[in-house]
Amino acid sequence: MQRKEFLNNIALTGAAALLTPLLAYPEISGISVSGKIKVGIIGCGSVSGVYLPHLAKSPFVELVSVCDIKPERAKARAEQFNVPHHYPDIGKMLAGAGFDLLVNLTDMQEHGRLNRMALEKGKHVWSEKPLANSYQEGYELVGFAKKMDVWIWGAPAVVNSPQFAFMSDQILEGKLGKVAAAHAHYGHLGPGWSAFFYEKLGGSLPDLGVYNITTLTGLLGPVKSVVGMTNILTPERTVDDKGKIQVEEEDNASLLMEHESGAISHVMCGFNYFDPYGHEGVGQEKPTISIVGTKGAMHLIGYDWMPFAVEMATIDHETPRRFATDTGSYVWEEGATVVSQSILEKLKTLINPEHSLHVLEIIEATRKSQSEGKRIQLRSTFPYPVIKTT
Ligand SMILES: NC(=O)c1ccc[n+]([C@@H]2O[C@H](COP(=O)([O-])OP(=O)(O)OC[C@H]3O[C@@H](n4cnc5c(N)ncnc54)[C@H](O)[C@@H]3O)[C@@H](O)[C@H]2O)c1
Repeated sequence: MQRKEFLNNIALTGAAALLTPLLAYPEISGISVSGKIKVGIIGCGSVSGVYLPHLAKSPFVELVSVCDIKPERAKARAEQFNVPHHYPDIGKMLAGAGFDLLVNLTDMQEHGRLNRMALEKGKHVWSEKPLANSYQEGYELVGFAKKMDVWIWGAPAVVNSPQFAFMSDQILEGKLGKVAAAHAHYGHLGPGWSAFFYEKLGGSLPDLGVYNITTLTGLLGPVKSVVGMTNILTPERTVDDKGKIQVEEEDNASLLMEHESGAISHVMCGFNYFDPYGHEGVGQEKPTISIVGTKGAMHLIGYDWMPFAVEMATIDHETPRRFATDTGSYVWEEGATVVSQSILEKLKTLINPEHSLHVLEIIEATRKSQSEGKRIQLRSTFPYPVIKTT
């Protein structure tokens, strides 16, 4: 398929064009007689306000239940989106109305524990990042899911964007020559609503760096070793749910990744970044990701989770040009909808649990590099390339 045709397909058929047939998908049980995936959402805070409208419109999804340890939040979301059941804790949710897929939108620290409880009950899981609270825990969860014949996937969904597909194609076709280096950055002034972002196992790496690390590993391939520096620049913050708090996890991070290909890439992220274009980068004309090789250079305009275009100059066309200006149906909150379609139609997603685990190991290695003052070798890898359309 030609790239242009592929991008047209994305615009026409949305996420379906980003899915490829899966060869050995386990038999799936418990799928709704309505022919839709029954979804239970846990965590009814900020991000649920973006997920729920998307899931409510999805032809692949039937919203069954919502749950929050702040029960008034679950009740309010249930009323707002016509969800028939709401629960105050996961135990009651898992024992209540049946569903196929848990969508976990809780505090980062709760992900590993809640995801495991759902897998134990034979549910598929879509988890906001991170899918577990350590690489080891994530490795065990992915293995356990396989044993249970269900799937666990973790955000982000950046590999689904047409801009990612375009950049991947250019690299794989050799348009940049030998890729030598890359840079990516993402930051803002930090969430003001919940303390968990700043508490142990929170931090700017799993909340923000995770996007750039997923993109750069997705484009340049698995990483062999990592060198990182992290610190806490603002030790005290005031947040809505707990007032004044001490910051316990990094709010400022930089890491260097040595890819198996030989490319060296850099990611910087943090909760102390002024951004004149605001959190979503609307109107942003400057790149947040740059990749350079022996025959070309390529820049992603806007953030990777909400990209606008790709600018590229090559040895054959030295004047930079804009490509992939159409985002099609891609939106960053589409992950749970895309995996619902994949379960129903037995299709493999571009979002791969092994890729999420590799990213988790890189985050952990960055922190270890900071605490031990040395370069950290990685154990994990993932299937690469993530996507090739031409
Ligand atoms: N807010 C965003 O814009 C955004 C964007 C992308 C990803 N995320 C990710 O989404 C997740 C949630 O972030 P948020 O901003 O919505 O946080 P939030 O604090 O607004 O919401 C989290 C909700 O989870 C509930 N919760 C916590 N532990 C629970 C448990 N054990 N059982 C049931 N409910 C529980 C809390 O009561 C709260 O209502 C995080 O992983 C975050 O990184 C957030």
